[in-house]
Amino acid sequence: MNIEEKIEKIKKELKSEIQLTNNTNDLANLKVKYLGKKGLVTELTRDMSNLSIEEKKEIGRLSNELKKEVNTIISSLEEDLNNKELEKRLASEKIDITLPSTKINIGGENILEKLIEEMEALFLSMGYDVVEGPEVEKDLYNFELLNLPKGHPARDAQDTFYTFEDTLLLRSQTSPVQIRTMLENKEKTPIRVICPGKTYRRDDDDATHSHQFTQVEGLLVDKNISLADLKGTFDIVARKLFGNDRQTRFRPSYYPFTEPSVEMDISCFNCGQKGCNLCKGTGWITVGGAGVVHHNVLDNCGYDSNIWTGFAFGFGAERLAMLKYGITDIRTFYTNDLRLKDAFDRREAE
Ligand code: DAH
Repeated sequence: MNIEEKIEKIKKELKSEIQLTNNTNDLANLKVKYLGKKGLVTELTRDMSNLSIEEKKEIGRLSNELKKEVNTIISSLEEDLNNKELEKRLASEKIDITLPSTKINIGGENILEKLIEEMEALFLSMGYDVVEGPEVEKDLYNFELLNLPKGHPARDAQDTFYTFEDTLLLRSQTSPVQIRTMLENKEKTPIRVICPGKTYRRDDDDATHSHQFTQVEGLLVDKNISLADLKGTFDIVARKLFGNDRQTRFRPSYYPFTEPSVEMDISCFNCGQKGCNLCKGTGWITVGGAGVVHHNVLDNCGYDSNIWTGFAFGFGAERLAMLKYGITDIRTFYTNDLRLKDAFDRREAE
């Protein structure tokens, strides 16, 4: 076979092989087969030792031409195949921008905090101050000066966490802040304060109890204050938090630091007082305790109970927030669960 015939044979073979090549992998192999170090085109110029210079030149020229031709054929197919593969990939990776995106959860204001701020704003607008007290409290303030001397049976109702010193405890209520406020403000009557804060009791945690919870305490000391003033104030709170249609009522109760003492109920906003699960069929929901400040408490703090009168109240903040935002488990407030925020967002959107 002379050189021309060899070249023709290679071209023919390449043409038929290229017809069958439909992916870049096969094409790469083809490239090696023809143009590689031991490829068919390269082979043509191997072993030319017994040829004349003229012949070498001629073969070199022909094989160079062939090399170019083969290169052109392979490159053009390579481009074709690359384009096709790219199109295929783009089609398979196509993004439908009309699809709804994945939801990204973002945090938000803590609902309990929000409720407390709402209460604070309301009471500030009525001339109250917002005060704080320590969570590790003296027995003296948490109980004794609140008319709960040692051994008083009502102490049992608040299962208290004591510290290593039995005069120090985790406050079981925010009521000791009443005492602190009165002791500090003797010359500054009338007194109007609310105190939102954490409280602690040795409760087992369940859907409605937590060993740590939040109260919003209120105290007003002035002259000629009666239960009617408390009722008026409670009306305002109930309507502000739960809507203008809310009715309120007092039920007789007992707290050592108030006389008379009451439970504060609001009319059920869930069923319009027809009776439902939330109000346990009664049409009323209890949201806190209150009463007229006991004369012993005034006297204990150095206020002449013949001159000064007052009312006090304590709301359960989680309870208010649960009612307001339809939350059924008190533990939700402390678990950083975004579903709580969702419940809140839904409610706000209404
Ligand atoms: N401290 C009471 C409790 O924890 C709630 C309470 C009742 C607070 C009557 C008051 C009050 O200030 O006057 O159950």
